[in-house]
Amino acid sequence: MDTLQQFGLLCPQCGSALLQEPKNNSAVCSGCRNPYPIERGVLNLLRDETTSTDEHYTLQWSREKGFLQFLKSQAEVKKIIPGGQMGWNDLFEEIRAKGRTNPSPRVSVYDAACGFGGIASELVQDDTAGGIAYLGADIHRSLGDITQEIPQLALCGQLIRWDIGNPLPAAQKFDYVICRAALHHTPDPRRTFASLCKALKVGGRLAITVYRKKGLARETLDDAFRKAIIPMDTREAFAVSRQFAVLGRALQAIQGEVSIEEDLPLFGIKKGSYPVQTLIYNYFLKCFWNPVFGEEYSTLVNYDWYHPPFAYRYEPEEILGWYREEGLEVVKRDGIEAQYYFLGEKKA
Ligand SMILES: C[S@@+](CC[C@H](N)C(=O)[O-])C[C@H]1O[C@@H](n2cnc3c(N)ncnc32)[C@H](O)[C@@H]1O
Ligand SMILES: [Zn+2]
Repeated sequence: MDTLQQFGLLCPQCGSALLQEPKNNSAVCSGCRNPYPIERGVLNLLRDETTSTDEHYTLQWSREKGFLQFLKSQAEVKKIIPGGQMGWNDLFEEIRAKGRTNPSPRVSVYDAACGFGGIASELVQDDTAGGIAYLGADIHRSLGDITQEIPQLALCGQLIRWDIGNPLPAAQKFDYVICRAALHHTPDPRRTFASLCKALKVGGRLAITVYRKKGLARETLDDAFRKAIIPMDTREAFAVSRQFAVLGRALQAIQGEVSIEEDLPLFGIKKGSYPVQTLIYNYFLKCFWNPVFGEEYSTLVNYDWYHPPFAYRYEPEEILGWYREEGLEVVKRDGIEAQYYFLGEKKA
């Protein structure tokens, strides 16, 4: 599949069509002749541009950390992460089912902020690779590791290095636009949302998850630690994030439960009985620990919470307003303690 043509990828500078160079190691603009490197299968539309979000995730999703391999090696991990919950599995099966029928044209998916390749590996499988056209975009510089982990991607997809806050430079519109747990990491999420909507076909579906606003104590304490950790470089931030895992592990080791006799709305706490770490974690301070994740991956989850420079949290009404303003009907909503899920359809 000639993916540049399949997706109608355009030059971000002048809007002319991109052409693949014969040696496959770059694309060149048919208008202004600007070249864009293709390294390990990744078309880099940002060239040397970088941000601290890029720095953060380049380490988090590196082969050194090996999150995709870890996820694939332990079935329980998928049930623990928010990306394995809410409406995601149903949506992936809906897309795979369409892909298996080998439709023409293929069912097209824009995975905005494709991260470590979790969604690509859900969608692009031996029996769907003939019927799906998958475009994954992210700003980090470890994307090349994904192309190596998911060989079927070469048959039906393309990864690009791109800032999803900006409209996708592509002539084609998509059947599905997916942005899982990433809008809140962009500097202006409302603007990013509008860019995603622009990439959607009429009748197409847009699925997102965003961080959920927590109680006052948890929000305040998390932000205080973010203020201290965001300025650190990636290795230092990763090293200090381990302390949240150690604290979480120690709190989880306490056997007793805390009984709260009545609702405490000031804290956002409902009447009930809570293990100590759950009470602290949900209402006072994120300190992730899970024995399946162990120290390294529990640390990675805390690093993901405290170090990215942008991490907005939302009430559902705000997001419902965005869908309405963009002319999308919300057809499914879901939520867990940490995030909200919304699936919308673009009306004519
Ligand atoms: C928590 S990860 C989620 C990854 C993936 N969507 C998933 O659910 O498996 C957030 C991702 O958003 C990406 N990201 C943040 N800001 C971005 C931007 N402006 N443009 C493209 N990607 C961005 C990060 O690089 C990171 O890979
Ligand atoms: Zn150009």
